[in-house]
Amino acid sequence: MHATPPRSGRRPAGVLLALIGTLAAVLGGCGNDGETDGQALFDANCAVCHGPAGEGAAGAPPLTDPAYLPDQLSDAEVADAIRGGVSDVRDGYGAMPAFSNLDEEQIAALVEVVRELQGS
Ligand code: HEC
Repeated sequence: MHATPPRSGRRPAGVLLALIGTLAAVLGGCGNDGETDGQALFDANCAVCHGPAGEGAAGAPPLTDPAYLPDQLSDAEVADAIRGGVSDVRDGYGAMPAFSNLDEEQIAALVEVVRELQGS
C-alpha cells in the first residue's frame, strides 16, 4: 500500500513541463514570430548615448539634428553609421562605436526607428 507516492511524484513534473512548453511558445511568439523589434534594439543599443527619444545627451548628438534628416543623411548612410561606427566627424563629440553584432535586418529596423524619432 505504498505504491502511490512515485506516481503522484510524476504528475506534477508533467504539468510543470507542459507549463514550461506553453511559456516558451508564448515568449517565442512575442520575440521572433513577427518583425524585428527596432524600438527594443534602440533602447538596448542607442538610447544610452542618443537618449531614449533620440534627443541627444552629453556624449552624443540628437538624432533629430537637421544634419541627420533624410535629405542630409540617407538611410544607407544611417545604416553605415550603425554598421561601421562614426569617427569624430562632428566637433564636440567623440566617436560612435560600430555595432558589428547586429545583423542587416536589425540595422534596417533601427534605421526605421531613427526616422520615426525624426518624425520623417
Ligand atoms: C557610445 C555612444 C553611442 C552609441 C551607443 C550610439 N551612438 Fe550614434 N553617435 C554617437 C556619436 C558621438 C555620434 C557623432 C559622431 C561624429 O559625428 O563625430 C553619433 C552619430 C550617429 C549618427 C549620425 C551618423 C553620421 O554619419 O553622421 C547616427 C545616425 C547614429 N549615431 C545612430 C545611432 C544608432 C541607431 C545607435 C544604436 C545602434 C547609436 N547611434 C549608438 C554616439 C553613440
